[in-house]
Amino acid sequence: KRIAVLASGRGSNFQAVIDAIAAGTIPATCVALITDNPKAYAIERAGAAVIPVKIVDYASFPAREAYERALLAAMQECHADLFVLAGYMRIVGPEIVRAFPGKMVNIHPALLPSFQGLHAQRQAWLYGVKVSGCTVHFVDESLDGGPIILQRTVPVLDTDDEDSLAERILEQEHIAFPEAIRLFCEDRLEIVGRKVRTRN
Ligand code: GRF
Repeated sequence: KRIAVLASGRGSNFQAVIDAIAAGTIPATCVALITDNPKAYAIERAGAAVIPVKIVDYASFPAREAYERALLAAMQECHADLFVLAGYMRIVGPEIVRAFPGKMVNIHPALLPSFQGLHAQRQAWLYGVKVSGCTVHFVDESLDGGPIILQRTVPVLDTDDEDSLAERILEQEHIAFPEAIRLFCEDRLEIVGRKVRTRN
């Protein structure tokens, strides 16, 4: 399979995917990193793994619509079977979602449907939940609402602050995301209504 990754920043999840491909765990080639941020550290990671980078700099467009058109064009050029949102920090517009139905996955650092949107780890910590985690899901037109592929949990400790909780969740993200992408690349995921069924 051909996968393309969208990332806006640090790219540690992107790295986990690169490593899983290199290890032969994910049967895929990463054909591109697409980023909206020319300063993203993910670009260095792509360079080290010899993955082509497409920069669609959000700041260089006069309006959101023009940016989205350029992003859509960059995505179409990839001819990817799957687009992986690995810390892509913008809402993907409906035209793009509709262009790749069932072909886009995201990771969210909370147990959806709890704590949608930004700063999910902080939201969970402030709320006082005792368990949190991460969710890998297909992207549809709802924000953080698409069919769930898998989730991993972590305890929330009394001694935690927002950062220690985020760190514990991130360790699980680095396991969950490659695992979900592997299942996709092995054609083992089936979307049935709002649910995902995983075949053996
Ligand atoms: C992760 O916490 C991910 O869940 C969220 O954004 C963060 C990206 O981190 N969507 P990284 O860029 O993969 O290191």
